[in-house]
Amino acid sequence: MDTVLVTGGTGYIGSHTCVELLNNGYHVLVLDNFSNSSFEPIKRVEKITGKKVKFYEGDLRNKELLRKIFKANNINAVIHFAGLKAVGESCAKPLEYYDNNLYGSIALFEIMNEFNTKKIIFSSSATVYGNNPLPYGEEMPYGIISNPYGRTKCMIEQILGDLSKSCSSWHTIILRYFNPIGAHQSGMIGEEPQGIPNNLMPYILKVAVGDFPELKVFGDDYETPDGTCIRDYIHVVDLAKGHIIALKSLLNSNNQGKNSEGINIYNLGTGKGYSVLELIKTFEKVSKIKIKYSITQRRDGDLPICFANVSKIERELGWKAKYNIEAMCEDSWRWIKNNPRGYKNV
Ligand code: NAD
Ligand code: UD1
Repeated sequence: MDTVLVTGGTGYIGSHTCVELLNNGYHVLVLDNFSNSSFEPIKRVEKITGKKVKFYEGDLRNKELLRKIFKANNINAVIHFAGLKAVGESCAKPLEYYDNNLYGSIALFEIMNEFNTKKIIFSSSATVYGNNPLPYGEEMPYGIISNPYGRTKCMIEQILGDLSKSCSSWHTIILRYFNPIGAHQSGMIGEEPQGIPNNLMPYILKVAVGDFPELKVFGDDYETPDGTCIRDYIHVVDLAKGHIIALKSLLNSNNQGKNSEGINIYNLGTGKGYSVLELIKTFEKVSKIKIKYSITQRRDGDLPICFANVSKIERELGWKAKYNIEAMCEDSWRWIKNNPRGYKNV
C-alpha cells in the first residue's frame, strides 16, 4: 500500500485525516513540531484505528530532517497541513506567518523535488475568494485578502501552480476548506484551540463547558435573514474523507479538472450556509445546554455570507458531504463533553 507523509498530522484536521488514511490501508508518516498540538492525538488515532503511525517530531523548515524522512521511507505522496492559521495573530506577527507557512512549504517542495516525490495535496482556505460573488467556485480569481494568513495560502497555491507548469511530473491537488467543525464520532479526537478561540464552534464549546460565561456574537445587522453572518460549516470527518478521494485520484495521476496552471483545485464545503444564531440554536438543541450570548460589534474583515459551490468535486471525484449541521454539533459536543480540557486531561 502507498505511504503518505502528513505534515501537521497531530493537528485538528490532520489527526482526523490520519484516521481515514489508516482505515483505508495507507502507511502514515506524520511530521509535526507541536507548535499547536501534542503527541496525544497520535495515541488516540492509533487506538481508534488499531494501526500504527510513524511519527517524526520536528519542523518543516528543517531540510536536513526532511531529507532524513524521505531517505528512510518510500513516500508516494504528501498531504501538507502544517501551518499557522490564526488570522488575527498573522496581522500581529506577519513575519512568523510568512516564515513558517511560506518558507516551510518551499523547504518541503524542494526536498520533494530532490527525492522525486511530486504528488501533493495542499490545505488551502475559502479565505482566498475574498469579495468574489457567491457561491464561490474554483475558477474564480483571488479576491481581496485582508490578512497575511490568507496571503500565505494564495502564495503557496501560486508556487504550486508554477511548479506544475515547470515540470509535468508534479501532480497537485489544492483543497479549499470552508468552515470545518465537528469531531470524530468516537469522541476521542477533536479541535483543541490554544488560549482564547478565534472561531465560532470552539468558542461555543468553551461556553458549553463553563470556561467562558458567554459568547459574543459579532454583529446582528448584516443583510442576512437574522442579521448574523452565514458560513458553510463542514464536518471534519467529511473533510478528512475528501482527502482520501483526492489522494486516490492523485495517486492514479488523474489529470481531470486541471486548470491552466496544471493543478486541480476543489472546494470542500457542503454548499449550504447557516447563520451564527442558527448554529447556536442547533447546538443548544442537540446538547440540551443553553449557550448564553450577547450581540457585540462586527469583527473587522468579516464577510456577511460565505458558502461554496461544491459541484466540481462531486462531478469529478464523486465526493459529497454527508453529515448535516445537527451531526456536526452532536459530534463537537461529544468531543468536549468527554474532554472538557481537550487533550490536557491526560
Ligand atoms: P492545526 O493548528 O490544528 O494543525 C496544524 C498542525 O501543523 C499543528 O499540529 C502544528 O503543530 C503543525 N505545524 C505548524 N507549523 C509547523 C511547522 N513549521 N513544522 C511542523 N509542524 C507544524 O490546524 P488545522 O485546523 O488542523 O488546519 C490544518 C491546515 O488547514 C492548516 O494549513 C490551515 O491553515 C488549513 N485550514 C484550516 C481551516 C480551519 O478552519 N481549521 C480552514 C481552512 C484551512
Ligand atoms: C475564519 C477565518 C478565515 C478562515 C475560516 C475557515 C478569521 C477572522 N477568519 O473565518 O480566514 O478561512 O475561519 O476556517 O478567523 N463569530 C462570533 N463570535 C465568535 C467567533 C465568531 O460571532 O466568538 C462569528 C464570526 O463573526 C463569523 C462566524 O461566527 O460570522 C464564523 O466565524 P469563524 O468561525 O471565525 O469563521 P470565519 O469567519 O469563516
